[in-house]
Amino acid sequence: MLKYILLFLTTFLVSRVISANVDNSYKIAIICNGELGDFGFNYMINDAMVKTQRAMNTTNIHIFEDIKPEIFNQTIDSLVEKGYNGIVTTSVEMTTPTRQYAQRYPQIKWLTRGSLTNTTNLAFFTYNIGVCQYIIGYFAGLVSNTSMIGYVAPGAPLVNNYNANALFVGARMANNNSVVHTYNTGTWLDQDISRGAANYLLDLGVDLISNNQDDMSVEVEAIKRGKLGLGTNGFPQENVYGEHIGMSFITDWSHVFINFTNWVRNETKNSYKDYGDFDNNFLKLGKFSFVVSDDVKTKVENEVARLITIPRAKHPYLCNEYNKAIFPNLTGNCITNGQFFGLDAPYEGMVYHGFYKVPLVNIGVSKPVLMGITITAGVLIFFSLILLAAVYYFRNSHSIRSASPVFTGTIIVGAIFTYVGAIIYVMPNNDATCNARYYLLAIGYALMVGCMVVKNFRIWLIFDNPELKRIKITNAQLAPWVGGLIAIMIVLLACITAESIGNLRANPSFVEEYLGKYEYTDICDLQSNGQYPLYILLGVFAILLIVGVFVSWKIRIVDMEEFNESKPIAHTLYVAMLSIFIVIPLMVSPQTQNSESTIICTAAIFITTISMLLLFVPKFIRLFRHGENSSSQNKSSIAASRSSKNSSKVQSEQFDDEESIEGPEPTESRMPEGPIHAQFDSDDDEMPVGDTNSTMTSDINTESPKNQ
Ligand SMILES: *[C@@H]1O[C@H](CO)[C@@H](O)[C@H](O)[C@H]1NC(C)=O
Ligand SMILES: *[C@@H]1O[C@H](CO)[C@@H](O)[C@H](O)[C@H]1NC(C)=O
Ligand SMILES: *[C@@H]1O[C@H](CO)[C@@H](O)[C@H](O)[C@H]1NC(C)=O
Ligand SMILES: *[C@@H]1O[C@H](CO)[C@@H](O)[C@H](O)[C@H]1NC(C)=O
Ligand SMILES: *[C@@H]1O[C@H](CO)[C@@H](O)[C@H](O)[C@H]1NC(C)=O
Ligand SMILES: *[C@@H]1O[C@H](CO)[C@@H](O)[C@H](O)[C@H]1NC(C)=O
Ligand SMILES: *[C@@H]1O[C@H](CO)[C@@H](O)[C@H](O)[C@H]1NC(C)=O
Ligand SMILES: *[C@@H]1O[C@H](CO)[C@@H](O)[C@H](O)[C@H]1NC(C)=O
Repeated sequence: MLKYILLFLTTFLVSRVISANVDNSYKIAIICNGELGDFGFNYMINDAMVKTQRAMNTTNIHIFEDIKPEIFNQTIDSLVEKGYNGIVTTSVEMTTPTRQYAQRYPQIKWLTRGSLTNTTNLAFFTYNIGVCQYIIGYFAGLVSNTSMIGYVAPGAPLVNNYNANALFVGARMANNNSVVHTYNTGTWLDQDISRGAANYLLDLGVDLISNNQDDMSVEVEAIKRGKLGLGTNGFPQENVYGEHIGMSFITDWSHVFINFTNWVRNETKNSYKDYGDFDNNFLKLGKFSFVVSDDVKTKVENEVARLITIPRAKHPYLCNEYNKAIFPNLTGNCITNGQFFGLDAPYEGMVYHGFYKVPLVNIGVSKPVLMGITITAGVLIFFSLILLAAVYYFRNSHSIRSASPVFTGTIIVGAIFTYVGAIIYVMPNNDATCNARYYLLAIGYALMVGCMVVKNFRIWLIFDNPELKRIKITNAQLAPWVGGLIAIMIVLLACITAESIGNLRANPSFVEEYLGKYEYTDICDLQSNGQYPLYILLGVFAILLIVGVFVSWKIRIVDMEEFNESKPIAHTLYVAMLSIFIVIPLMVSPQTQNSESTIICTAAIFITTISMLLLFVPKFIRLFRHGENSSSQNKSSIAASRSSKNSSKVQSEQFDDEESIEGPEPTESRMPEGPIHAQFDSDDDEMPVGDTNSTMTSDINTESPKNQ
């Protein structure tokens, strides 16, 4: 029993001791709009809260950080519910809602920013903002080597540029040549903008920059470039940046909160308005950097002391000669506090640069890709031109003639088109290049593939000819097919370009996945209707390739390699199809413009170049190995044996028609049993003639008289 009495007594006494030291009659909340660790405004608020707790011997003062306007109402509602009887809202944008809450909850005492009406439960606090920038300006005017001082701030409508004017008046007070350059950011906190603006001003020759941003990014930029930084947000910045900070002003909010705590505790009826300034130690100067001369220090300290002695309404940032130009009806040269806060126009001698915009960077094809593709394609164009000249020069040689110089030349021209298309592909996108690349690539490949298919088609027509009729197919008969193909391509491409259908144009895009902030890229935009001609165009190519591969397969048994181009052409078409199947999956996944251009251009150059090599290397090897009339001396072994074996039966025919290929005479079909040898000397000449089992052989005998 005694034990319980003792326990009760101890508990009672302990609780008495605790409650004797802690006054639980009040509970105060302090609301901040940002993080307490910002080494700026909110850090100083928290610092003052700590000092107030100590001064008042209380733990009943609580701070709430990062209360943005969206959650302000619900925060206040919950504080009211928890029984707080004193609420402080520390930033300017909170004033209006706080006034509404003060009216709704008259039993709670409120403190907010401003100096408005006299109410019973709402106190106001404001501090001398003008004098801070004035003193900073005074210091800057004394130490600046260029007499150019920068100022970076959000600007209207967030906050008018009156601080820049106060800065300017201070700088002019120290140095009659001072110029202040103002750059607005349009935001309290955006490092990309504030740093860009700071660097712009530093490039101008400014050697000290003041600012009114929420962070120190502007000063950090200046320090990085070897300049003196300034502490302009109330935190002693020398505690972070050391001797790089020329000077800073410090705000000490502790007496603001002590005054408020007393008001909450004392049951005094009427509210009050406090005003922070140098005279009541709300504002202080921080430690000067060692690089600042004693002379400058003394001058700044003296200027502060001088300001304390003169009435605030007579301070130079309110009363100066520059006001006349902006307020023409002013009597005297002083403006009121209200006029000062409305001041946005620069004084004479200040330079206003407007709002800084981070320059947008156009992300296009990178230089290495551009150079690589351009040089490769350029070299290949050069070789193609040489090849074209060689084909012309050797146009009468057997090897070239058997491949039809006209179509061969057209294939080379098509190849050049595709190379130029590849170069255009890596050029910066604009309306012209967006369209030109499609035209060049589509027409280039249409020429190449069209000519190859047509050449093979001719061979097929001649050999897939069971009656072994004499067939004569001239270039003039074939050319319209290629021409028609090109015409179809041009019509489809025109549809893609046409404003009412495809409207293929270059447009800036900011939303591509690979783009960073402030980056854009010009992309070739095709309207949705433009997809149909594009699909048809791809369809035409697909059909062309399939027909080409089919025809090549059909004539695969023609064993006279020198004019039967089915193999190289088939190889070419296979390569093209294979490449396309590799390229398409790569294209479907999102690509940067760089990789897209690289894939497409490499594929285009590869397909074209491989085709050219497959087509022309064997021809020229034969040409140089066997001379210009190679085929007449070199029969294939089968042909030679057949030729000798059946020489008696041979009905040699020879044509010297540049534009024709002829099959054997119809009469020959009357003797299907024996092998038939025919001889052609056209541009696609020397057609072998199959026997009825389709085993095609050939016998070329240029020695025999030309009998037609
Ligand atoms: C706080 O406590 C200290 C002793 O711990 C005392 O000297 C001081 O007067 C107290 N201050 C207030 C405001 O109660
Ligand atoms: C907060 O409450 C006030 C009225 O007290 C109202 O005018 C304001 O729109 C509210 N704000 C938000 C963000 O809900
Ligand atoms: C002015 O020039 C001197 C000498 O070059 C230099 O030490 C000083 O830091 C400069 N002042 C400023 C504000 O850059
Ligand atoms: C600046 O010029 C005014 C006259 O325009 C003069 O009174 C003042 O002393 C000058 N101040 C300095 C620091 O040179
Ligand atoms: C409130 O009371 C404290 C003592 O508790 C006193 O020091 C302070 O001056 C008073 N404040 C006001 C505004 O009356
Ligand atoms: C506010 O008004 C009351 C009278 O309603 C007056 O006694 C008090 O001095 C005024 N306070 C201020 C700060 O003007
Ligand atoms: C706190 O209140 C005292 C007395 O009313 C006043 O002199 C002082 O300026 C106030 N402090 C601040 C920082 O406003
Ligand atoms: C200045 O006064 C004139 C008349 O004296 C008036 O018309 C004009 O609006 C005033 N200007 C300003 C800026 O107040």
